[in-house]
Amino acid sequence: MAGLLRRALKGGLVLAAAVGAALAVPAFAPGLVWSRAATTPAGFAPSAERGAYLYAAGGCASCHATPGREDGAPAGGHELASPFGSFLVPNITPDRETGIGGWSGEDFIRAMTLGIDPKGRHLYPAFPYASYARMTNEDLLDLKAHLDSLEPVARANQPHQLGFPFSVRPGLALWKLAFFDPTPDSRLPVAASAAARRGAYLAEGPGHCAECHSDRNFAGAIRPETWMAGTPAGPDGRRVPGIRGADLGGWEPEDLVFALEYGMTPDGDELARGMDLVVRENTSKLTPEDREAIAAYLMSLRGS
Ligand code: HEC
Ligand code: HEC
Repeated sequence: MAGLLRRALKGGLVLAAAVGAALAVPAFAPGLVWSRAATTPAGFAPSAERGAYLYAAGGCASCHATPGREDGAPAGGHELASPFGSFLVPNITPDRETGIGGWSGEDFIRAMTLGIDPKGRHLYPAFPYASYARMTNEDLLDLKAHLDSLEPVARANQPHQLGFPFSVRPGLALWKLAFFDPTPDSRLPVAASAAARRGAYLAEGPGHCAECHSDRNFAGAIRPETWMAGTPAGPDGRRVPGIRGADLGGWEPEDLVFALEYGMTPDGDELARGMDLVVRENTSKLTPEDREAIAAYLMSLRGS
């Protein structure tokens, strides 16, 4: 009996060691599991001007702008509440000590699309890299050129206030293995117009609309079947409406374009609870064509 127990225990230990070793690779050397080539077409030269547009289309300021700073610099400090605790958004100005000055283009692409920082640490998906993973390398390098052109602001990052076990960064490897898709498919219907195609890129990628407009599971990952279909409990714990054509009964595409420019529904309700920020920092700054493109895409989304 004792021998049997000893053997089972030994077997268990061997298994535990094997599982531990298998997990240690993604946890401590994520680059071996998740990678993306930082290549661009020949002759591509990053443009800070195009990058400034993508900075708006990505809504970066909604999270990275420092509360109380008039100049809107993305020096961080904003507190993002979540069911797992509070995230304190970091400084992404080009300051070398406290920001992301000195990052290479490849470092930036890896952080934005794989959630891995230059030190090889996992980033929390509260930073919506699962959406930004859809962005092209060219757009990401333009975006970096814009960030590089900003004034460096020295403002030290504060640690996130997360409960155990969420506070253990290497543990994010498990989450990523289970839920993170570094090459996500588009939800665009196959027979889509050129406008809807552009809208899909903007809404699914930089616009990261699904991050708030979908329901999440126990682990905080988007439930694929609720993509853009709304959730009873959004970031603030309250209902967030669905934004597929199927959910927006009675809305015309023009209503959607108007809401994205002015932050008001066809009933005259002012959008609030974070959507006001999305409109202010992102959709109101897009070209009319791009707002129409997002509307064309969302209207093309029917039931799942
Ligand atoms: C919903 C809020 C949110 C939005 C929108 C957002 N970020 Fe972040 N970002 C975060 C959080 C939170 C972190 C910290 C993640 C961590 O510590 O693991 C972060 C981290 C980063 C980092 C890594 C910084 C470091 O020091 O490791 C970069 C780079 C970054 N964001 C760039 C951007 C850019 C560019 C945009 C716009 C395209 C953007 N973010 C939009 C919340 C956001
Ligand atoms: C930070 C979370 C967040 C993000 C990101 C976000 N939304 Fe919203 N959105 C909301 C919330 C919350 C509401 C409900 C606002 C209210 O109740 O006032 C809303 C409302 C809306 C509405 C009104 C729907 C209705 O039935 O009244 C539209 C349209 C909309 N969002 C479109 C978008 C689009 C397009 C994007 C991406 C470019 C986007 N949202 C990104 C949180 C978000």
